[in-house]
Amino acid sequence: MDVLIAHGGASHREDLRKIVEKYAFNAIEEENALNAVIKAVMLMEDDPEFNAGTGSNMRVDGSIQMDAAVMVPGDFGAVINIEYVKNPVLVARDVMLRSPHMILAGDGALKFARKLGYEYYDPSTEEAIKRRERVLQKLKNGEIPSYYHPQFLAEFLGDTVGAVARINGEFAAAVSTGGTSLTLRGRVGDSPIIGAGIYCGKKGAVVATGIGEEIMRRMLSFRIYNRIGEKCLEEICREEIEKFGDIPVGVIAISDEDVCAISNRSMPYAIVKTQR
Ligand code: GLY
Repeated sequence: MDVLIAHGGASHREDLRKIVEKYAFNAIEEENALNAVIKAVMLMEDDPEFNAGTGSNMRVDGSIQMDAAVMVPGDFGAVINIEYVKNPVLVARDVMLRSPHMILAGDGALKFARKLGYEYYDPSTEEAIKRRERVLQKLKNGEIPSYYHPQFLAEFLGDTVGAVARINGEFAAAVSTGGTSLTLRGRVGDSPIIGAGIYCGKKGAVVATGIGEEIMRRMLSFRIYNRIGEKCLEEICREEIEKFGDIPVGVIAISDEDVCAISNRSMPYAIVKTQR
């Protein structure tokens, strides 16, 4: 049985679940796990409703800097703070498959992408511009006392998109994000950090979503991966998420026998299965 789980971000609109499901069904048709998770993430990057690729959040200074990563057992590729490309997840894949490196950042990532033929693309949308304006207005009014303020999180997080899959017994994971609106240029979240926002090995695959700083602090994806086999995946993920208290977080995870999608906020997700 092949399985793919996709999510559209913690603290994101529950009504996007049907769309995530459509993309997941489309993606599981791919011939292997890596292509399947990349396809699921690409479809969400291309949909401006999600905070990745087109529709990504803007930083306080108005720039859009995107993070993405892919992982299979024994290999990893990521881009950090890449600008002006359509699909960061594809560049992350090419860092893994076509460069001697694991992570490329900033202008180096962009130069690498251009060398491979990725064309200039502006991922900004009217909606993202309005979101940033609302953040700036609230900052001006002193209405956002903290990065962790529940109102800010509910209104502006939108967060990451991601997918994990097991196809023909092989695992893969992919993730992509525009980060959060209330951040400085240059800020890096959990998504492109191996073991924090993403992990994949012989036992399974895990992808996280939520406040990147807190996910990194806890090495959430590796922590869950490391516990695979200890008890049922749902229980493991629930225990790890409970440690975040009220801080928004979600994970999707898959092992040989088990699947799990869980968040302490609304999180549109889909678990799709197929028998080849
Ligand atoms: N979870 C995405 C980020 O914090 O950037």
